[in-house]
This record gives sequence, structure tokens and C-alpha cells, in this order.
Amino acid sequence: MGLNMSTNVQVETVAKWEKQPEEYKQACRKLVISHAINELYGSQVYDEPAIALAPNPYAKWLTCRVVMEEYGHHYKFFELGKKMGIDDHIMVPQSAEKSPLSIMLLELTTWEEFCVIKMLGDLGELVLVEDLLKCSFHPLRSLAKKTMPEEKFHSEFGTKFCTEISANKEGRKTIQDAINFIYPHVPYFFGRTKSKNNEIYRKWGLKERTNQEIREDYIKRAAGVVSKLGLTLPEINLKDYD
Ligand SMILES: [Fe+2]
Ligand SMILES: [Fe+2]
Repeated sequence: MGLNMSTNVQVETVAKWEKQPEEYKQACRKLVISHAINELYGSQVYDEPAIALAPNPYAKWLTCRVVMEEYGHHYKFFELGKKMGIDDHIMVPQSAEKSPLSIMLLELTTWEEFCVIKMLGDLGELVLVEDLLKCSFHPLRSLAKKTMPEEKFHSEFGTKFCTEISANKEGRKTIQDAINFIYPHVPYFFGRTKSKNNEIYRKWGLKERTNQEIREDYIKRAAGVVSKLGLTLPEINLKDYD
């Protein structure tokens, strides 16, 4: 890798961020924009519609909480972006100006699929925000700290419902089918293996790990989660994510 020197910069406030080199500022903008957009897409495409799919009042209540928190995540990144001078429409795209992650294009039709998205997709979000915990741009670091427990709740929410549904044979098959359908899309979350952006993020201490390291960590943890349910992850070819 061409960039073996990383900087020790620590940027505590947006005002200090203003004075950083353009490469640093642009890298921070990219991170904030991608979180703002993905949180919004996820809320609109999956979480909000899932209220109607939830099978009983208790499940609806918890789903509402998830929806509230996901829109909240979007809004917190949006607010930070505003302070950094990023245009509203970039963080709240009206059309597919910026193409969403491939998982956002899957059509969600059942409660079981939603539960698997939370169990495996939000575990992916959790792994992503964990990597920001030591981020050199402190406003982003503190956002990661705030959203992390909620992402953990979302993933546990999914696991809890998937566990209940898997208690009988028919339910287990439904959940396994949903895992087979959804899981191969999640490893794209973490970006390409050879990524110029990721090199820059690491150079500036915005991220700690390479995309590939984050992806491998995720895959291990996802395998652990589904094995507790007596289920499996479908085979994927890591080369597909290069
Ligand atoms: Fe979120
Ligand atoms: Fe979430």
C-alpha cells in the first residue's frame, strides 16, 4: 500500500475541522454523507414499512422504536453534515441521485425477512460504527458512540424474533430461506477490498481497519449469530466483494 504513514491528527470540533487540509475535510464529508443517506434509505425502505408487517402489538411497538431510532440516526448525521456546510439535498436525496447499497434494492415482503435484515444487516451497521469509535474527527466519533447501543438493540431485536420464529420446523425453513436471500448482500456494506477511500480514511485516522478486515470480522460474527439458531450462512465467494 502506498500510504504507510498515517497522521496523528485529532480534530475535536467542526470549527477545527474547517482548518484541516482539503483531503481530510472531503474524507469526513464522504463518511457523514454515506451514513446520512444509508440510515435514511434503510428507514424508508425497510423499517417504516415493517410496522405494517409486524404480527402483533408488541412486535409493532418494538418496530416503531427501531423506526424512531433509525430516522434519528439519519437526522444526527444530517445535523452534523449541516454544520459542516453540506447541502441538504445531498443527504436527503429526492431520487436515486446517489445509488443506495444493493441491499436497499431488495424487495422486502415479509416480517421474517425484516427480522433477518435486522439480525444480519444491523450487525453490519454495528461493525461499521464500531470502527469509528477511535475516529480522529471527534464529532463523528461521538455520533458512533451514541448510535452503537441502538444498532446493537436492532440486531438483537432481529435475533430475538428470528429465534422465536425458528422454534418450529416450518419457521426455521422460512428464516433460513431469508438468510440465504439477504446475507450475500451484506458484505458489500464494507466497501471494495482495494479502496482508495479506505486508504485515505486510514491515513487520516478516520477508520482503523481495511474494508477487508472489517468484512472478515463481520462474517465471523454473523456466522456466530446464525449458528446459535442452528442455522447456516450460505456460501459466498469473497472475490465477489473485491
Ligand atoms: Fe441505524
Ligand atoms: Fe439499525
